Amino acid sequence: MIITIDGPAGSGKSTVAKLLAQRLNVRFLDTGAMYRAIALAVLQSGQEESDAQSVAWIAHDAEIRFDDETILLNGESVAAEIRTPEVTAISSVVAANPDVRTRLVELQRAVGHQGSLVTEGRDQGSVVFPDAEFKFFVTASVDARARRRHRELIAGGSSLTLATVRTQLQQRDARDENREHAPMKPAADAVIMDTSNMSIVQVVDAVATLVEQ
Ligand code: DC
Repeated sequence: MIITIDGPAGSGKSTVAKLLAQRLNVRFLDTGAMYRAIALAVLQSGQEESDAQSVAWIAHDAEIRFDDETILLNGESVAAEIRTPEVTAISSVVAANPDVRTRLVELQRAVGHQGSLVTEGRDQGSVVFPDAEFKFFVTASVDARARRRHRELIAGGSSLTLATVRTQLQQRDARDENREHAPMKPAADAVIMDTSNMSIVQVVDAVATLVEQ
């Protein structure tokens, strides 16, 4: 059984997907972490993220694996490194590269072939797993998402203002929605959930109820 949970940054989809996977006792796949790992590899290489050919080569050569849900880039855990503001800033540029997408989609489908999975991202229901049994698109107003992201960043020691976080979020949304290849959009048969006024627990309950029915 494949369950896809797509949606924009700050929608709560990662937490929801992770908790749902625990509740159903199936694996969880964070595909955003895979795009972030390629973005990190690009930063480490010193190449420009706008250099499509170099980025394609980097993605081709990178070995990405999960070890018990910890992401490994070329054998090294990069769970913390992929969450820096520098990686976040270029991840949506790298994710627009069609060669990067082709490579990561292949890896994501290979994980799907290994058995039941809750997978989250932007294109999991629309492109990667069109035949998934359950598809959700989790969203929230830009203000609600910016507030959530800002709270997380402040808790992590960042001093970014809410206004800056909101602007960066909108820039990333725009790049993810308007790219030519696999833009962020709900699959035609996805259940769309607006979580602006819902807690994570409420969202997990709502999604789990639909699946368990
Ligand atoms: O969900 P996230 O913030 O970790 O995602 C990082 C970037 O990767 C984001 O700009 C969107 C992109 N992404 C994508 O294009 N397709 C996916 N399936 C997952 C993430």
